[in-house]
Amino acid sequence: MEHITQFVQKSDSNATAVAIFGVIGVAAIALKTLSFLKVLADVFLRSGINVKKYGAGRGGWAVITGATDGIGKEFAFQLASKKLNIVLVSRTESKLRAIAEELEQKYSVETKHYAMDFTKGSEADYKALEQLLSSIEVTVLVNNVGTNHEIPTPFEQETDKIIHDIIEVNVKAAMKLTKIVVPQMVARKNGLIINLGSFAGLVPTPFLSVYSGSKAFLSSWSQAIGAELAPKGIHVQNVNTYFVVSTMSKIRRASMLIPMPKPYVKSVLGHLGISGGASTPFTSTPFYSHAIANWLIDNVLNRAFWVKQNYNIQVDIRKRALKKREREAAAAKSQ
Ligand SMILES: NC(=O)c1ccc[n+]([C@@H]2O[C@H](COP(=O)([O-])OP(=O)(O)OC[C@H]3O[C@@H](n4cnc5c(N)ncnc54)[C@H](OP(=O)(O)O)[C@@H]3O)[C@@H](O)[C@H]2O)c1
Repeated sequence: MEHITQFVQKSDSNATAVAIFGVIGVAAIALKTLSFLKVLADVFLRSGINVKKYGAGRGGWAVITGATDGIGKEFAFQLASKKLNIVLVSRTESKLRAIAEELEQKYSVETKHYAMDFTKGSEADYKALEQLLSSIEVTVLVNNVGTNHEIPTPFEQETDKIIHDIIEVNVKAAMKLTKIVVPQMVARKNGLIINLGSFAGLVPTPFLSVYSGSKAFLSSWSQAIGAELAPKGIHVQNVNTYFVVSTMSKIRRASMLIPMPKPYVKSVLGHLGISGGASTPFTSTPFYSHAIANWLIDNVLNRAFWVKQNYNIQVDIRKRALKKREREAAAAKSQ
């Protein structure tokens, strides 16, 4: 009899444990499903803060670094189409002048431009830029300029120049420009700062370690200054970008996962203040396929898995890049 009582008690406690684990499991699945549905709602249904809030059509200026090609050039065109005046900054004077003229003619906005090479980190250039920006109402800053390793390279084999350039361009330029424009944004209690982040900052990327680290810096720094500046009326948004067709990505054909700069920038400007696939504050992953990829990274398997994936991808890219170099060297020799 005692045996039967013990058996019944044991089965009862087993059933209770199964029920508790069942409820926890269902709740966990429901929460994951809800967070995925939120991502879909964010990217397909919601529209973000209107850029008009940041002085569009009212004399406001947008400063864009790396503004003559790829994503930066597209920001210049789309912000000008929304009636922001534009300051273009990158290295090549002729390209800057041509784009400035095109923007003025096409959108009847004012433009200014400044040619500088951010790898040099010249104090004289930053002073001149500060002077240029002090006479206008800067309401938007797009810290877009970026540079990468030439090919995936083991850290200990990377050149000091490339390491230096990535830090100057991806890290220091963003901080310097932000420091220049924030005081006037704070004085007006209004401003928007967009930082061009990368999935390489979300998941550490072996063989692109310095680029990856620089984008992780941008992510962390954006969240920190985002919290500091929000009470002062300034919105900071780090944009998690997977691949986009551009010179830097060396990808020429668009696909579902790799948009052209135009739809990519449209998704960024259409989702200001909306997180999309991102799970960290002051961050957005607005392009639909990038948002789903970001959600999968954060919610499926662990970070070690995704780092290993990146490792395998970069080993493969490095092999192909080294073969291409060999072919080019052989062709040059035979000429
Ligand atoms: N494309 C992607 O797949 C991808 C993915 C993730 C993140 N991102 C980020 O998005 C941003 C833009 O990338 P992108 O692909 O659009 O690049 P891109 O097409 O190569 O354009 C780079 C722009 O920056 C300027 N620039 C380059 N080096 C410079 C320097 N040292 N000083 C001043 N200007 C310089 C270039 O003009 P000049 O040559 O005339 O100077 C050009 O206007 C970067 O921060 C990048 O890390 C891109």
